[in-house]
Amino acid sequence: MTPEDFRRAGHALIEAIADYREELARGTLPVQATVRPGAIAARLPPSAPEHGEPAAAVLSDVTALLMPGITHWQHPSFFGYFPANATLSSVLGDLLSSGLGTLGLSWQSAPALTELETAVVDWMRQLLGLGDAFSGVIQDTASTASLVALLCARERTTGYSGAHGGLQSVTSALTVYVSEHAHSSVEKAAVLAGFGRDHVRAVPTDGAFALDPVALDAAIARDRAAGLTPCAVVATTGTTATTAMDPLAAIAAITAREGLWLHVDSAMAGSGMLLPELRHHWDGIERADSIIVNAHKWLGAVFDCSLYYVRDPQHLVRVMSTNPSYLRSAVDAEVINYRDWGIPLGRRFRALKLWYLLRIEGAEALRARLRRDLDNARWLAAEVAATPDWRLVAPVSLQTVCVRHEPQGLAGEALDRHTQDWAARLNASGCAYVTPAKVAGQWMVRVSIGAETTERAHVGALWAAMRALASAGA
Ligand SMILES: Cc1ncc(COP(=O)(O)O)c(C=O)c1O
Repeated sequence: MTPEDFRRAGHALIEAIADYREELARGTLPVQATVRPGAIAARLPPSAPEHGEPAAAVLSDVTALLMPGITHWQHPSFFGYFPANATLSSVLGDLLSSGLGTLGLSWQSAPALTELETAVVDWMRQLLGLGDAFSGVIQDTASTASLVALLCARERTTGYSGAHGGLQSVTSALTVYVSEHAHSSVEKAAVLAGFGRDHVRAVPTDGAFALDPVALDAAIARDRAAGLTPCAVVATTGTTATTAMDPLAAIAAITAREGLWLHVDSAMAGSGMLLPELRHHWDGIERADSIIVNAHKWLGAVFDCSLYYVRDPQHLVRVMSTNPSYLRSAVDAEVINYRDWGIPLGRRFRALKLWYLLRIEGAEALRARLRRDLDNARWLAAEVAATPDWRLVAPVSLQTVCVRHEPQGLAGEALDRHTQDWAARLNASGCAYVTPAKVAGQWMVRVSIGAETTERAHVGALWAAMRALASAGA
């Protein structure tokens, strides 16, 4: 493809994306993909073409073959999982990153990539209200960042012996403490970092599904008494199921006293910290060793863009650095080489999508959108609380409303079947998309509000559909 071919095909593709977003905003597409498993694969040729095809043919297959298999995360009636806003301003930055095709192996391989990353990550630090003791880097995902955090915790606790002698050098098993509602990526990170599933303690939570610091203290004491070595606590602000907020100040007091690493998974709620009125959820954050905020969730940076902040970048570099001769340069002492701040060597120019987002939208508009979503969540919560047979299952601390329709006489498994049934019928209707989840042993439905185009009217229409479908199935 020549640059001239690219120009023509690129214009057509941008037109198609803009048309798609306009169509989404009209709300006419079914939110959930309508295909059966295997339907897309069955229509794809079994092998790659021997001879090139026109870009227009590929684009027309996007419409014909792929679009039926897209669940529309950017739809105004998408209330599933979590908001993963791919704001168009940020899409431009992502496109530019691909177009430049530059790779950050070292500062010298891409000076602008490195220096823009340092700048936008620091802009974000300020917007989040984090102190200047923190330095940041962009990782692909929170899953990777949690792995990096636990590797750093392991190395600090063992005086770097894990890196030298590996698993064989640790004589007393290291333990990690998480809330029983922590994201599955945290347990995965602990397993990958060599702690072993048996040494991950799921600490009980309180009535609001937040980690109980008294239970944490007791779990640490039990492990010490058993000759184990407590190493790290992962606190979550904004758990995946209910957006519960673990009490950071109380947890930080324990980690400081016990000399444990404190990693804060704020993948979801972190974006909310642009709002000073939500920052009480982060009381104690200054004592964290590492923090994740997924800019690719509610904030609007197109996936993938996880901000990872640490208080001791030298420790991070010591754990992660590699220094082969072909990557050395004469300026290494003066610059940051982000390959030493994470796992991959090659790094995309991810800062561009955040830079485009922040510059084109501006912080004020981002804050206004977040506040709109919080308002919509409060409105829905008030409706649910005031409606007979409906119940709020968890406190609404952010933009997620966890609900259950509990008609008289239904309990236990019958109630679970009813909950899953009305949620499935809602999703199958195409008018909205929600994700059911289990908390405290019982199914409920999460309504995660915060797609960029979701307004009160969409939440109102969802609530009407929920009531109609749930009553019809009761
Ligand atoms: C609290 C929390 N942590 C971690 C993750 C994982 O995020 P990622 O997909 O960036 O690894 C999620 C995503 O749902 C989350 O809600």
